[in-house]
Amino acid sequence: MRLYWRVLVINGAVLTAATLALVVAPVSVSRHPVVSEAAVLGFGLFLMVVTNALLLRSSLAPLDRVVREMASVDPQRPGRRLKPPDSGPGRDLVLGFNAMVDRLEEERSMSNAKQLAAQEAERHRIARELHDDIGQQLTVVLLGLKQAEQRAPAELADELAALRESTRDGLDDVRRVARQLRPGVLDDLGLASALASLTHDFAEHSSASVRRVVAPGLPPLSSDTELVVYRVAQEALTNAARHAGASAVELSLTKVGDRVVLEVADDGRGFDVRRDGAGLRGMRERARLAAGDLTVTSSPVGTTVRLEVPA
Ligand SMILES: Nc1ncnc2c1ncn2[C@@H]1O[C@H](COP(=O)(O)OP(=O)(O)O)[C@@H](O)[C@H]1O
Ligand SMILES: [Mg+2]
Repeated sequence: MRLYWRVLVINGAVLTAATLALVVAPVSVSRHPVVSEAAVLGFGLFLMVVTNALLLRSSLAPLDRVVREMASVDPQRPGRRLKPPDSGPGRDLVLGFNAMVDRLEEERSMSNAKQLAAQEAERHRIARELHDDIGQQLTVVLLGLKQAEQRAPAELADELAALRESTRDGLDDVRRVARQLRPGVLDDLGLASALASLTHDFAEHSSASVRRVVAPGLPPLSSDTELVVYRVAQEALTNAARHAGASAVELSLTKVGDRVVLEVADDGRGFDVRRDGAGLRGMRERARLAAGDLTVTSSPVGTTVRLEVPA
């Protein structure tokens, strides 16, 4: 029954009962009511209000519950749905609300997927330009310097050697940035090698020691899923280096049943996992794209990021 009719019926029933009681009961109200009459009237009114309140409460309580639960639906942790009451006006409200959340989540996950795909394509393009254009030009400069060094007078040798060194450093930087933007080794040599080069880079640029464990015989992953695993590992390692103050980090890739599990654990200072930043949100969104589960656990003795994806 629609809420409007339900409230109308309840109020109508209470008023009818009150009217009947007035008609049947041996009471009368004088032109100038005396105290005893006012007391009877007051009592009747009280009864009416209480009955009305009790009846309306059972009808409206589900609405309050739904409104409370609506406020707790968190777009960062999708998949949560309200349980519809078996009947009553709350049921339609819950079903309608759940359908709306379905649509919003679908729309959100589609636009996230599009955004991440666009981001990857853009990174790919920049990495290629860095590697192919700037990298090639620096290589040409490097070769030219080498030849010039051979023919130049002796007093220029040191200067040219120093120039060649900084050009080589620049070239290394360009290659490193290109590799971070788009791990070419992921496409060429697969996830295990890409993670190896990631931990290698990490060890070079961080004071923490890093241990890498890749279980043998992992089931193959699609290239999209491999990219998700790689990006989550990259962000988790970056966080460990940037925020954790850790002395040791361990990255492991194992399997549980037919699922592949990535774990990045540090022994750093930990943080409150309810306070997400863009990095953690990005990890969650990527995990969702790969139909995986991401859990972050943290305590004052360390943080573990765990990603489980279907093979
Ligand atoms: N491994 C970690 N150890 C300690 N703190 C962390 C760790 N990872 C994340 N954090 C905390 O969580 C915050 C959010 O991280 P993140 O979402 O990656 O954003 P960002 O790295 O851009 O700050 C960080 O600013 C940091 O305070
Ligand atoms: Mg981060």
